[in-house]
Amino acid sequence: MNVAEAIATRTSCRAYLDTPVPEATVRAILKAARRSPSGGNLQPWHVHALTGAPLGELLAAVRAKLPLNPRGEDPEYVIYPPELWEPYRSRRYTCGEDLYATIGVAREDKLARLRQFARNYEFFGAPVGLFFLIDRGMGPPQWADLGMFMQSVMLLAREHGLDTCPQEAWSVWHRTVCEFLGVPPQLMLFSGMALGYRDPEAPINRLRTERAGLEEFARLRGF
Ligand SMILES: Cc1cc2nc3c(=O)[nH]c(=O)nc-3n(C[C@H](O)[C@H](O)[C@H](O)COP(=O)(O)O)c2cc1C
Repeated sequence: MNVAEAIATRTSCRAYLDTPVPEATVRAILKAARRSPSGGNLQPWHVHALTGAPLGELLAAVRAKLPLNPRGEDPEYVIYPPELWEPYRSRRYTCGEDLYATIGVAREDKLARLRQFARNYEFFGAPVGLFFLIDRGMGPPQWADLGMFMQSVMLLAREHGLDTCPQEAWSVWHRTVCEFLGVPPQLMLFSGMALGYRDPEAPINRLRTERAGLEEFARLRGF
């Protein structure tokens, strides 16, 4: 698989087979992703990978808390600007509508939407859950570095026949997750990521999100 194929076939996968992912594969992906660039070579990423019993334990802890607190814990960072403006607002709306359409959930069916959203906290059935953390003192440039590292992980996963879904949704359970992982207080949770083998039959995995044309975001001169 070349880079273009890895990019073209990477989609956010929201249903997985229960086929386990070998530890050697997870290690190989994370090891290769270390070559991601970072300003000043800070390498500001911290990763925790869970499978099997520890993953089950964490998911059970969150499952027990969800009904009492569906919004999770006090957020540590704001995921989207409060009043999104165009064109971002419409893009977000379309992505949500297209996602729920794949599983036949109507806009008014809030309960079904919530139920689907809560699948985030099961890593959508993936056998591996990854967590990406960063030092609290780091700023936007280092957050961008972490994003590049995550993209490397996602593309390398494709090379191993695996799929992923990055999940900011996990950030609202930062207390529970960080306590479970035993991470020092100077680290904060940015995102989770499901990792596993795609369920090729699952309708939700048919979603192919749109992208703006080149002319909408790029200006080329002097060619
Ligand atoms: C940093 C990051 C966090 C995301 N968080 C979530 C999430 O919590 N739950 C989810 O279902 N999708 C999440 N997504 C997936 C996006 O919705 C998805 O990337 C976007 O709609 C484009 O679709 P594609 O990944 O299938 O190309 C996240 C993506 C990124 C990059």
